[in-house]
Amino acid sequence: MDLNLSGRHALVCGASQGIGRAAAVELAELGADVTLFARSAETLQAVAASLPRKHAAQRHDWRSVDMQDTAGLQAIAAELVATHPVQILINNTGGPPGGPAYSAEPAAFESAFRQHLLAGQVLLQTVLPGMRDSGYGRLVNVISTSVKEPIPGLGVSNTVRAAVAAWAKTLSGELAADGITVNNVLPGYTRTARLDGLLAAQSQKSGRSEAELAKDMIAAVPARRFGEPGEVAAVIAFLCTPAAAYVNGVSIAVDGGRTKALS
Ligand SMILES: NC(=O)c1ccc[n+]([C@@H]2O[C@H](COP(=O)([O-])OP(=O)(O)OC[C@H]3O[C@@H](n4cnc5c(N)ncnc54)[C@H](OP(=O)(O)O)[C@@H]3O)[C@@H](O)[C@H]2O)c1
Repeated sequence: MDLNLSGRHALVCGASQGIGRAAAVELAELGADVTLFARSAETLQAVAASLPRKHAAQRHDWRSVDMQDTAGLQAIAAELVATHPVQILINNTGGPPGGPAYSAEPAAFESAFRQHLLAGQVLLQTVLPGMRDSGYGRLVNVISTSVKEPIPGLGVSNTVRAAVAAWAKTLSGELAADGITVNNVLPGYTRTARLDGLLAAQSQKSGRSEAELAKDMIAAVPARRFGEPGEVAAVIAFLCTPAAAYVNGVSIAVDGGRTKALS
């Protein structure tokens, strides 16, 4: 099985912590050069310095960028690919705040759409010429199991994730003949700052302890535990390898079996 990513350049968004950071580690383990995007420069610098180096030519880099700033994102990505074309793009960022759909401000939908879909579109358009030139491209979107079963209390997220899933499926058909695959990874409850934040918010609202809430969540997972960022990252990294060339247009849940949908 060919898992070698030496000589490939991966751009990993939302890479300062959590699933994005874990994905950067796995891609570097497979030999890729990795460039990290997120806002916190200091953290990114430390993560880049800590990434594995499996061969002498392998180099890692980072850029501080806000995915809400579509024009700034485009400029930074364009500067990056001018010297180092990207073949692997991990479209990942922070999740939108929780709450029902009916009461969400239109601005909340606008903001989530910009950060999740417009950012992905701008990045894809910037890296696409390099992918086409090398006959190798991998786009992996980190979204949510809500694209199979909407999650109560995450109205804006459910809506925007579905848009990203539809975008990805459309792209997968448009780009396959160029050697480019487009897939989605759907994390279940994964132990990151995002999960901690959701637990803290729910605890404050309900008056129940975070431990009690976590116990209830785990009871709904057949594996009876939360996932680890590295477990989601392993699937992301596999989708980026030559071995995964014929996996295209799919959404893979990494959720310990929680999602009940058949496909
Ligand atoms: N963890 C879970 O249980 C779970 C479950 C289902 C879906 N997901 C989804 O999977 C994705 C990753 O989750 P996670 O748990 O790893 O999240 P996380 O721990 O909150 O990490 C989010 C990453 O995105 C970056 N980021 C946030 N806003 C940004 C912005 N405006 N511009 C650029 N970078 C930004 C953050 O870095 P900076 O703050 O430095 O910018 C950080 O590196 C999210 O979309 C999340 O909703 C997670």
